[in-house]
Amino acid sequence: MKFEGSHILSVSQLNRDAISRILEVSSLMAPYAMRKKRCHVLDGAILNNLFFEPSTRTRVSFGAAFNLLGGAVRETVGQENSSLSKGESLFDTARVISGYSDVIAMRHPAMYSVEEFSKGSSVPVINGGDGANEHPTQALLDLFTIQSEMAPHNKTLDGLNIVLMGDLKHGRTVHSLSKLLSLYKNMKVTMISPDALNMPDSIISSLTNAGHQVVVTDKIDHNLSCDIIYQTRIQQERFASKDEANLYRGHFSLNKEVYQQFCQQHTVIMHPLPRDSRPEANELDSDLNDLDNLAIFRQAQNGVLVRMALFALTLGVENKLSQFEK
Ligand code: CP
Repeated sequence: MKFEGSHILSVSQLNRDAISRILEVSSLMAPYAMRKKRCHVLDGAILNNLFFEPSTRTRVSFGAAFNLLGGAVRETVGQENSSLSKGESLFDTARVISGYSDVIAMRHPAMYSVEEFSKGSSVPVINGGDGANEHPTQALLDLFTIQSEMAPHNKTLDGLNIVLMGDLKHGRTVHSLSKLLSLYKNMKVTMISPDALNMPDSIISSLTNAGHQVVVTDKIDHNLSCDIIYQTRIQQERFASKDEANLYRGHFSLNKEVYQQFCQQHTVIMHPLPRDSRPEANELDSDLNDLDNLAIFRQAQNGVLVRMALFALTLGVENKLSQFEK
């Protein structure tokens, strides 16, 4: 895949070689992200961060990643602060903003809206989440995290036993991650959710067609004996009402007691965050916070590395980092 000048809209654009390159460049970013080295390879470049739906990690880590490579960040947060609220189209907005940008990161509540926007853009657009559709940069940082968490156990992505749990119908992170997992071999993927919140059939098919063993269930117990548990939040914002979302809250709470009873000693816990810490939800109890195998904050930190890599690749500077060290 040629990265320079490309939009990153869906993980479906990526093959194993492209993913390996992204993860390899992500690793190269570690000294710059930790500021052991300084790099100004994007000096003078502008990222426009357009977030039309709430975000903490994705928006801030996109911005931090661009700053760490020497670029400047401008932000629009909320549709009410954009002329989209006056009826301007995504296409016109993209034509205009891309004239002020070297690259754009965007989140929007409507499925496929980022792709629609990209058609009007003259610069690369990176999808920061489009409704319940996809969250490709999250999936890439998840894969980077799985790889780094499994390395001490001499396990690679091929052959892993992974559990995806929670709202698998609306969770865009698990949609994108599952599509990426279908590029690897010999996995067992267990999907634990209430029936009404099952993973879309098309995504289950992509995993079974890849030859993975797929288990769809609404039971926790012995199904948690795995390498990775990827827990998700009930995506209240995708339901017709809070009352409807409440029907599914608290079904699959993971806490230390459940972990110790059903998981293996090496089982790593991941979650894209935010976790819903309200008592009625509590999908990932804070009593797990002192567990070494709770990878959620390392996972969020890896977002900076992966987003730095995506900026470097889409702007064609990934081989120039050392020339621009301070
Ligand atoms: N994981 C994730 O997308 O978090 P935010 O919604 O805070 O960006």
